[in-house]
This record gives sequence, C-alpha cells and structure tokens, in this order.
Amino acid sequence: MLASLFRKKSLDRVLAEAGDPNRADGHAPDSGGLKRTLGGWHLAALGVGAIIGAGIFSLTGTAAATYAGPGIVYSFLIAGVLCAFAGFCYAELASMIPVAGSAYAYSYTTMGELIAWIIGWDLILEYTFGAVTVSIAWSGYLYSLLHHSLGIELPVGVLRLTKGPFEQVTLPDESTVSGIVNLPAVLVGLVLAAVLYRGMRESAWVNNLIVVLKVAIILAFVALGIGVISMDNLIADPTASGPAALVPAPMLVDGVSRYGWGMGGVLTGAGVVFFAYIGFDAVSTTAQEAKRPSRDLPFGILGSLVVCTVLYVLVAVVLAGVVPYRELGVPDPIAVGIDRIVELRGWHETTRRLFTFAVKLGALAGLTSVILVLLLAQSRVFYAMSRDGLLPWFKDTHPRFHTPHRATLVTGAFVATCAAFMPITLVGELVSIGTLLAFVLVCLGVPILRRTHPDTPRPFAVKAPWVVGLLGAATCLWVMIGLPWDTWLRLIAWLAVGFAIYFGYGRRNSVLAREERP
Ligand code: ALA
Repeated sequence: MLASLFRKKSLDRVLAEAGDPNRADGHAPDSGGLKRTLGGWHLAALGVGAIIGAGIFSLTGTAAATYAGPGIVYSFLIAGVLCAFAGFCYAELASMIPVAGSAYAYSYTTMGELIAWIIGWDLILEYTFGAVTVSIAWSGYLYSLLHHSLGIELPVGVLRLTKGPFEQVTLPDESTVSGIVNLPAVLVGLVLAAVLYRGMRESAWVNNLIVVLKVAIILAFVALGIGVISMDNLIADPTASGPAALVPAPMLVDGVSRYGWGMGGVLTGAGVVFFAYIGFDAVSTTAQEAKRPSRDLPFGILGSLVVCTVLYVLVAVVLAGVVPYRELGVPDPIAVGIDRIVELRGWHETTRRLFTFAVKLGALAGLTSVILVLLLAQSRVFYAMSRDGLLPWFKDTHPRFHTPHRATLVTGAFVATCAAFMPITLVGELVSIGTLLAFVLVCLGVPILRRTHPDTPRPFAVKAPWVVGLLGAATCLWVMIGLPWDTWLRLIAWLAVGFAIYFGYGRRNSVLAREERP
C-alpha cells in the first residue's frame, strides 16, 4: 500500500512519451498530439508575458508603503535572486525532462506518484488562482481607465457588475454598496480561453504583441523618470546622506520600528513582490510544443527572468525615487509615478493625461498576457495529469487545432466563475504560497535526480547543484513561513481536497497502477 504511493514513472518512459525530445539533431518530433511551433524567443516572450503584470503594476506600491520603504529596490533584488535559484533548477529539469507537466512530471520521476500528485494539484492552484487574481486586477484597471482617464460615468446598475459580492463599489455620491458579479473579469477569462482553444501559434502571436507593448511602456516610464529622481526620496533614514542613499535603515514610524531589512521591512516586501515574478515557470509547461526543448526551454525560462528582474529593479528605483514612499500605498502606483514625473518635468496637463492613459493601457495589456499564459500553463498541467490517468477527461487534443481543448475549456470556465465572485485579497497570497511550494519541490528534485540518474543527459546543467537546489528550497520555505497563517490554512484545505480526489480516483486509475494489476 505504502510503496504504491511512491511508485515512480521511469525517466526513460517519460522521455519516450514526449517523443524523444533530446534527439541528437536537436529537433524533436511532434509529441502526444501537441504541435511543436515555439522557438526560443517565443518562449522567452511567453515568460515575459506571464511575469509582468499585477505584481509590478499594483503590488509594488503597497509593498513600498507598508513594508520596505525605498528598500523596495532590495525587495525586488532579493525576490529575483530567490527566483533565480528556482529558475536554474527549472531550466535543468525542463531541458532534461521536456514534457508538458513541468514540475509535476519532474516529481513523478524523482519523488513518486503521491508527491507528483501534490505538486500537480499545487500547480493547478498556482496557475488557476493566478489567472483568477489577475483577471480581477484586470477588471479594476479597466474601470480605472474608463472612469479616471476617460471620465466615463457608469450607471449604478452597471457599476455593481464590475465587482464580486464580497467587494464594495463606490458610488458617485461616495456611498458604497456591495458588488454583484465581476463581469469584466469573467469576460477576459473566457475570451482568452477561446484564443488558447484555437491554437498555440495564434496564442503566441497575441502574446508577442502584448509583450512588446508592455515592455515599451515600462521602458518609457524608466526613461522619463530616471532624470528626475530625488535622492531624498530614496533615503528611508532622514539623517543619512550621500552613499547612504537607498539604505532602508530602520526608523520609527508611529513608535513602531519599520522599513528595516528584516521581517516587516525589506524581506516581507520581498515576499509580497514575489508575486510579480510568478510565471517564468509556466514556460516549462510548453515543453511539448517547443521546437528544440533542450535548448529553447532554459533560454526561455532564464531569459525572461533576467529581463524582468532588470526591468523591475529599474522601475523600483525610479518609482521610489520620484514618489515619497508613504504616498505609494495605492492600487495603481505606476500611474501615480507618471503623474509625479510629468509634474516634476513641468509638462502640460494634456501630456499628463496622455501618459497616464498609456500606462493604464499598458497595464491592461500586461495583465491580459499574464492571464493568457497562466491559462495555457494550467491546461497543459491538466493534460499531463490526465494522460497519466490521475485525472479524467483531459487527455485528448483537438483533432484540428492540436490543443488540449477540453482542459482549456474547463480551465477557462473555472477561472471565469471564481473571478466572478471571489475577492482579490483571498486569492493573491494563496497563489504565492502555492508557487513557493512548487519551487521547493523543484529545487529538491535537482539534487535528487543527480544522485538517482547521474548519467542522463542534461543539456543544461546547474553548477553546484546541491548548493543551488538546497539553498533555493530553503529560501522559498523561509518566504513561505513569513506568509500569514490563514494563507497556510487555505493551502492545507486545498491540499485536503486534492488528497480526496487522489484517493478517490487517481490512485486506482493511474496508468502505473493499472499496469501493476494482474
Ligand atoms: N507575475 C504575474 C503578475 O505579476 C503573476 O501578474
């Protein structure tokens, strides 16, 4: 009984199922009905598409105002380093085991079926609720664009259709009522699921377009702001000067020591902005659609991570440099930053309106591609788990579009339903803790496979795998510990539902279990 929980899929078998993707000529054949249409740059763009979104456009402000102060720059750096550990481990495993299930498939070969199930179920949490969170943020930005930038007044009846029943809508007379259903969030989820249903090439094309737009907006923000940074804003300790700039020295705010390096300061800020990096791992779920997985996957994963880390740090320096951090506790900090830059440059009101509009449009576009890639990743995880017999229904691909169409439909419908009714605060931290758990297991997978399969080819090999793997797992665990206990409770509840499904269905129906039966 116990042994069956830890039955492992052999690495050779996983590779054979994926169509021998590490073939000597580097070109993998089609596999499992999915079509190989993505090159390295496509994959890097998918990564950037999934990464830059609600985190940078919304959470940066809260993290700076509430925890890190100007040390938000360091929070981004720390979160980037943490993700780099996980990124290297993902790159090694993805190049070695290039199959659609990503971390789920890696753990099936390293730690056995039960752990693989846990990680697969956990990836569903990350990608599904990630898409839900960003859909809700998308709806908020759409309203802000229509109302604040274009001055459109929506009737009360329509306003109540922009938020779920657990969130408050502010009416024109400043009174508040509860929302009914978040219709824009529902629509964006459904439309993007339809794009994914249609095909990978079309989805990648939509993503590339959006990535160009959002990266251009971010670069413009940095270029406009870098010349008007005030060093005073970058020093948390007003008594510090000169090279002490950017040092988030602990200071007393209302009698409480905050903005230091530790918990409640820069490190907690890193935990919050970690959300902004989520998504680079989604690249690995497209392994069976990559033309040369062994080369393109590490390029896509690490390339997108490096690009986004650089952009994030630049944005953080400019934002904290132009706006005093106490004023950053708003849902649209980048728009506030643009307002301030235009003011400091003494430009005209029309210019300010134009730039703010562009930033919000860029944010909307950015959030759109995050939802797109997270939905894509989620449907590939369903597909992989279903092919292993752990879930029903999802193992077929569309005969014409070569996409896992049923998984895409169910994912889109589920995300739309949750986004209609759930409050954003409930889902955001849940996504972070789920992702961190996946990272811990991936980081541990690298040293384990080095021991169990020392001779399997590793087109991309991490240097010092024990150090990187163990340090990566430890730092992710450490950030998890800093998350609130109610988030932990929700994670445990989610895993409990997962166990019920595994013991009720997956354990008996898994392909390996069926093969073991006489
Ligand atoms: N990293 C993604 C975002 O910030 C999830 O929206």
